[in-house]
Amino acid sequence: MNPICAALDVKDPAAAERLASRLAGHVGLFKVGLELFLAHGRASVDAIRKFGLPIFLDLKLHDIPQTVERAARGVAELGVDYLTVHASGGSEMIRAARRALPRTKLLAVTALTSLGPDDLDAVGLARDAVPRLARLAVAAGADGVVCAPQEVSALRASLGPGLLLVVPGIRPAGAAPGDQRRTGTPAEAIRAGASILVIGRPLRDASDPAAAADAIAREIAG
Ligand code: C5P
Repeated sequence: MNPICAALDVKDPAAAERLASRLAGHVGLFKVGLELFLAHGRASVDAIRKFGLPIFLDLKLHDIPQTVERAARGVAELGVDYLTVHASGGSEMIRAARRALPRTKLLAVTALTSLGPDDLDAVGLARDAVPRLARLAVAAGADGVVCAPQEVSALRASLGPGLLLVVPGIRPAGAAPGDQRRTGTPAEAIRAGASILVIGRPLRDASDPAAAADAIAREIAG
């Protein structure tokens, strides 16, 4: 499977469909995030279904278990393939999402890739927060975790080959980091054991998104 997940971070379903049509055949999955989903809900998912690729709904749910369970029941009706929750919501919250979504791949976000070392300190996330949150999420039934490129190899070694390791903060050499702080190249992340690379701006903002995706696929293969 092509491990590139294109983040369709655009303003409406028509723009998502346009970007998806340029990328279909060049990436392995499509991600719908907060920008699109909060404004347009189900229409944003329906607009890209025809391309036949797995759909990753990145809502990063983080609330009390009952609220997350009821919200996740609504997500179940959308027929998406992946959903994110925040691991820091705790074991009971993750179990609640799992109950509501027995067939969807449930991914737990450990620490946002936009947080650098000082930010992690400032929000009270200790140095071992990522492996700790990852272990908690897996024990509570998550299928995988979202982590930064430099955390992949340790998590792969400690949590085994079956775990989905989904990695944002991906920047091909020379690409602008934007607001991302814990970044790495596509090849580094794959070599370390990543399952899926989440890539937004380097594809969305390219003059030829398909060519940009193909160049990343070649970099990974090489
Ligand atoms: O443009 P860029 O490649 O930085 O986009 C990364 C995408 O991955 C965005 O849609 C962002 O919401 C998402 N994401 C992230 N960090 C996480 C989880 C998801 O950047 N921990």
